[in-house]
Amino acid sequence: MGPTSEVAEFDEIAPDYDASRGGTARAAGFAGMLAPLLDPARPVLDIGVGTGIVAAELTALGHSVQGLDLSPGMLALARARLGSRVAVADACRLPVRTGSVSQAVSTWLLHAGPDHGRVFDEVARVLRPGGRYLVIPAGGTRPTDDIGLVVGALEERLDPDRTRQDGPWTLAPIAEARGLVYRGRASERPMTFRLSARDMARSLSGGLFTGAWAVRGAEAGRLVEETRERLLALPDPDVERVREMADYVMVFAKP
Ligand SMILES: C[S@@+](CC[C@H](N)C(=O)[O-])C[C@H]1O[C@@H](n2cnc3c(N)ncnc32)[C@H](O)[C@@H]1O
Repeated sequence: MGPTSEVAEFDEIAPDYDASRGGTARAAGFAGMLAPLLDPARPVLDIGVGTGIVAAELTALGHSVQGLDLSPGMLALARARLGSRVAVADACRLPVRTGSVSQAVSTWLLHAGPDHGRVFDEVARVLRPGGRYLVIPAGGTRPTDDIGLVVGALEERLDPDRTRQDGPWTLAPIAEARGLVYRGRASERPMTFRLSARDMARSLSGGLFTGAWAVRGAEAGRLVEETRERLLALPDPDVERVREMADYVMVFAKP
């Protein structure tokens, strides 16, 4: 899928995006994880700001946030929250001066399609020495129960080149090849939730794959259908599993 179709997809889902992705509770949680790692005296660049829901929460915590995003539909909502501090731009071609950014953040951007190497080329360019890039991945740490194993296998088959994977195992080598240092995970926020195999099967057929990205196309549809059948064939598909996962912030620094 190229950038044009991704933008069209976000334009299309923009009106429902916030409510379908955890609303202000998620955004406030993410802002609370980022804030202790940010200097309130310096501006923050939010790359892939989306509807601005996280940026607005950071603003409420006293940070001055500027946002960039490729989807005009998402940005229209961000503009209502943040005014002229947002602009349409590609994370792979930031309209930002070299060495001018002290701190940048991205929440749930890197699973959404942009080329990881090109984003990190740009982040490494715009950060000033001592600057930091904070990333909250869409993946987080995943449950490794029976549902997780089935869904993980689907993920591998849908994304064999791992272009959607946004954990440290994927991003740290990319960042380090561009002169950034991966400083590790911070602000880890574990959570427990309950889900049955049938619930998971239902959410897959809704078109949202593991809650991370939309699944389109006949071949992907066939893999999802197969996965649904595997989920429903697990023992006790109606019994809720107690599942654990964690969100966290990855910290990249420019020496
Ligand atoms: C899942 S949303 C996350 C939005 C926001 N950061 C949040 O946490 O709510 C991903 C966002 O990345 C944007 N995006 C995808 N590819 C991009 C690119 N190459 N440059 C800039 N933004 C991009 C999409 O338009 C979308 O708004």
